[in-house]
Order: sequence, then structure tokens, then C-alpha cells
Amino acid sequence: MTIAVTAATGQLGTLVVDALLQRTTPDQIVAIARDAAKAEPLAAKGVEVRIASYDDPTALTDALAGVDQVLLISGNEFGKRGQQHRNVIDAAISQGVSRVVYTSAPQVDTSTLPVAPEHLETEQYLASTDVDHVLLRNNWYHENYASSVETAAATGSVLTSAGDGRVASASRQDFAEAAAVVLTTDAPVKRVYELAGDVAWTQADLATALTDVVGKPVEVANVSSEEQASILTSVGLDAGLVDFIVAVDASIKQGELELATGDLSSLIGRPTTPLAESLRALA
Ligand SMILES: NC(=O)c1ccc[n+]([C@@H]2O[C@H](COP(=O)([O-])OP(=O)(O)OC[C@H]3O[C@@H](n4cnc5c(N)ncnc54)[C@H](OP(=O)(O)O)[C@@H]3O)[C@@H](O)[C@H]2O)c1
Repeated sequence: MTIAVTAATGQLGTLVVDALLQRTTPDQIVAIARDAAKAEPLAAKGVEVRIASYDDPTALTDALAGVDQVLLISGNEFGKRGQQHRNVIDAAISQGVSRVVYTSAPQVDTSTLPVAPEHLETEQYLASTDVDHVLLRNNWYHENYASSVETAAATGSVLTSAGDGRVASASRQDFAEAAAVVLTTDAPVKRVYELAGDVAWTQADLATALTDVVGKPVEVANVSSEEQASILTSVGLDAGLVDFIVAVDASIKQGELELATGDLSSLIGRPTTPLAESLRALA
């Protein structure tokens, strides 16, 4: 059973390869990356590295030769991902890959998250094919709050327009292990997993965790979207990032990241990593 992992040099991909190595032998794992030098540490682990960009259908087809399952980790080039993911799926189908596992976004069919459209496009493309597929709709990574640790240490506050919205985030490691379980289990798998942390936390909970991590009181500055945009712009963030942060907080406020299904802890066989633990590691 040969398992290929795309974006294997990324933060999630690297953790998935490590989690697969706990469950299967290196000769069963193909790490697909676009940058041979960056992939050297993966080759050193004994897995086969194949080089292919998401933009190169021929290289992707070659990279997926003889592969039984592929984990398609969504790319990070916004605006190009729909086509890039289709390239991987087409290559997988042309090589007779038996299952495509895709890292998507939470409740993507109704989500207003700015990242949702390309994930939905990919899910719909998969649904239009005959290939067996599993959707891992990953909630937010705890690690997305790395900059909150820095800001909290500097300012003693967390700026948000998310109101009382909750976030059921988990660590990248948790999501990586779940992907590895789905790729290696003999048990039946679901078509769609809403993978989330066990705890859906509020901004006040985040401030409490940050207080503990940075060792000084951290308060929540809960403002309107307009105020948030104006403050972020005034400290020098570029317009695209400001729009992204404000849009994400609007989605959180509407409850779009709060669904804690238990799917993730049941796949990995343990509780998900507490937010405070990941924030401490980031600090
Ligand atoms: N759930 C969340 O909170 C969350 C947060 C951030 C991102 N994401 C999504 O989850 C994915 C994995 O997360 P991550 O933390 O591992 O992100 P990451 O560290 O930024 O990794 C992204 C990976 O995509 C690869 N990639 C980008 N464009 C490519 C192309 N044209 N051809 C081949 N590979 C390409 C990158 O290759 P290189 O290594 O060569 O750069 C990198 O390995 C992200 O790409 C994004 O879609 C989810």
C-alpha cells in the first residue's frame, strides 16, 4: 500500500510523514514536494521523494505512479489553488490512485471564510469524479495564534471583532495524526470528517491562556470590524491581510469555527491538544 503525501515539505506535510512513519514502513511512503533541497530531510528519513509542482500536470502524473492513496494537502497560493488541486486530482485519476484524501476547511459548503471558496471548488471537483475520496475538513490550527502570543506579550491585549464566537482549534500535530490514521486504517472511513479540537474556546478563554503563557494580564479588546480594520491598518498591516483577519473574525462571530464534533479525538485516540499547551510551545 503506497501512500503519497503532497506539500510534504510544509509544516503539516512534514508532521503527516512523521505520523505515517509511526504506522507504516518508509518504503510505503512517497513524499511529493516542489523543492528538492527542502525535501532532503524527508529523504533522510528513508521515504521516497518525488518532485512536482501543483502547476505541473506532467510532473504530478509521474509523481503519482504506483501510488494507492494520496493525501492532497491544500496549497497556499490563494487564487491558484482550485486549478492546482484539480491538477493533482486529474493526475491521481490518470494513475489509477484508489483514494484521494483532501485537507479542506470547516463546514465548507456553508462557510463564509475567505479560504472557503477554493476548498469548496476542490470538494465539488472531487464529487464530480468517480474517485473514492475522504474530506478532512480541518478547523483552525492552534498555531495560527502564534502572532497573538507576541502581541499579547507586547500590548497585554488581544484585538478581535469575533465577539462571543468560539473556535474549536487543534494543533497541527493533531490534524497530522488524524490524516495518518485515515490513510493507514483498515477500519471503514467516513466521506467527510469535520476535524476540530475538543474545546471550542472564546476570545476570553484565549486571553486567559495567553495570560498564563506570557506571564502578565492579557485582556480582550473586542471591537467592531471597522475599528479592527482601522487599528490593524494603523500598525502597518497590508490591506489584504487586514481584510483577511477581519473576514475570519466575522466568520468566527457567526459561529463558523465552533463545531467540536469529536471526530478528531476519536480518530487519534486521545483528547486533542489543549490550546494553552500549543501557545506555550509557540512562546
Ligand atoms: N486549518 C488551518 O488553520 C490552516 C492554516 C494555514 C494553512 N492551512 C491550509 O493547510 C495547508 C497546509 O498547512 P501548512 O501549515 O502545512 O502550510 P505551509 O507550511 O504553508 O505549507 C504549504 C505547502 O504547500 C506547498 N505548496 C504551495 N504551493 C505549491 C505548489 N505550487 N506546488 C507544490 N507545492 C506547493 C508548499 O511547498 P514549499 O514547502 O515548497 O513552500 C508547502 O509545502 C496550507 O497550504 C493551507 O492550504 C490551514
